[in-house]
Order: sequence, then C-alpha cells, then structure tokens
Amino acid sequence: MARITASVYTSHVPAIGAALDLGKDHEPYWQKVFAGYEFSRQWLKASKPDVIFLVYNDHANAFSLELIPTFAIGTAAAYAIADEGWGPRPVPEVKGHPELASHIAHSVIQDDFDLTIVNRMDVDHGLTVPLSLMCGRLDPARDAWPCPVIPFAVNVVQYPVPSGRRCFELGRAIRKAVESYDQPLNVQVWGTGGMSHQLQGPRAGLINAAWDNRFLDRLVAEPAALAATPHIEYVREAGSEGIELVMWLIARGAMSDVALSAAGGATGTQARAPRVVHRFYHVPASNTAVGHLILESA
Ligand code: DHB
Ligand code: FE
Repeated sequence: MARITASVYTSHVPAIGAALDLGKDHEPYWQKVFAGYEFSRQWLKASKPDVIFLVYNDHANAFSLELIPTFAIGTAAAYAIADEGWGPRPVPEVKGHPELASHIAHSVIQDDFDLTIVNRMDVDHGLTVPLSLMCGRLDPARDAWPCPVIPFAVNVVQYPVPSGRRCFELGRAIRKAVESYDQPLNVQVWGTGGMSHQLQGPRAGLINAAWDNRFLDRLVAEPAALAATPHIEYVREAGSEGIELVMWLIARGAMSDVALSAAGGATGTQARAPRVVHRFYHVPASNTAVGHLILESA
C-alpha cells in the first residue's frame, strides 16, 4: 500500500524563484532565506519520495475569472511551466502521476469532496517555487525534479474560498485515498503558500510574526482546533493573502495522527504525533513572511 511518510509546508514567494533563476541566492538579502532550506534540500534527497502531492494555489495563470474550481486535481502526465508575464521560469517540466492522481480523485470524490479533474494545465510560482526551495536550482535541459508531482490547486484568490475545516477534512480523505492505493509508494504531501502577507490596499506589506509563529505551533500540536479558525481571522491577522495558509491544513489533515474519518477512531489505534524535523521562519522575503516546516509520520 502507498503511505504518506511526511508533510512539508512552505511559502511560495515568487521573488524567491526569480532570485534563484537570476543567481542572486548568495546575495545577503536572499542568503538568509535560502539558508533556512539547506537542511530541507538534504532531507528531501534522503527521504526519496516516489510522489509529491503538492497543494498550492494558482494565481490566475491556469485559471481565470472565467472558471474558478475550489479544488482541482491534476491527472495529467506532464505540466508545462506557466508564463507569468516574464516568460516561463527556467525550471524542468513537471511530470505527473496520472494513475495515483486518478485513484485519489475517485476515492475523494466518492468521499463527497467535489474535485475538478484537470487533464491539462500550466503550473505557476505557487507550485514551482516550493519545488525550487526544496530542490535548489536545476537545469531544465539536463535535470529533472526528483519525482512525479500531483498538482492540487485550491482557490484562495477569488471569494468565496474554502474554510480551514473543509481543507483539514479533505486532507483526511486524501490520506484514506493514498492508503488504499495498491502500490508501495512513498508519498509526501506538501502544503504551500502563506505566511502573513498583503499585496494590496492600505495594509499592503502587513506582516504578523506573532500570529504566524502561533499558527506554526498550533499546526503541529492542535491542528483540528486550528482548522476551526474562520477565514476572516486569516484576513484580519495575516493579511488578505495570508488566507493561502488554509492550504497547509490539507497537508496536516493527511498526517497519520489525524483520525481517518471526522467521527474519529477509524484507524483503530491512536497514532502518534508527527516528528518536527525542521522549522524555519524569516522576515522579510519580498512582501511576505517565509514559514517552513517538515513533519515526518511517527
Ligand atoms: C508575493 C507573494 C505571493 O504569495 C504571491 O503569490 C505574489 C507576490 C510577494 O511577496 O510579492
Ligand atoms: Fe501567492
């Protein structure tokens, strides 16, 4: 059976991708950001995932206001890199895992979550920047990402957005789906976006380090209670784009210490809390607070 062995959480600040692509990562400003991911790059190499289920948000690149799926699962064999206005980032194409993605779509939809199935889409900085942070700079002509990726896009751009509770429960359903896949795959679930930031209006530039760090504490220790946070608190405390953090609750809900069904107890045993193998927080990167966690299943 496939297993979720770890979850990774990270911001996706687009300027980080540009810094890496333009060779600015050793400049003092950016070095402080990339230093927080040195451990993570070694960890990812050692943990050898077979598939990364990558929860992220599209920023009006694959989807426009014409079509706004709340949850969209990529079932394609490959995904092109989006052109966000400066040409596509010089990173490898993203290979998918159509078989596992289709299995997860089947299981999760039968578990009453309405997913949009996407057989063709370009992936933007929401997906490529987390990969770059965890893998370092790769040459698109010679290198490949370490494993196939299943892109899972969440609408956190155009209201109404899904609640944290819905995201957390979706995480459970994703774990149930993965654990019912009949291949011995090592699967990681990544939750991306955040942390506090606001890109627009009078509060542009808002950062709330105290709230962010409490979010990290609670994500580890009391995720079900954290999932009850209403969307308006994210916006008030973490800024309009801080709402991206609900995506972290999908990855956290997929960890093995969270009971498989909302009723609880479906696993039969009380699984242990995950191990925190890495935690990093840094301000600023562009307009954004950078947060990062790696949790391993106990
Ligand atoms: C910035 C952050 C984001 O999450 C994003 O999607 C776009 C821009 C920024 O900090 O500039
Ligand atoms: Fe964003």
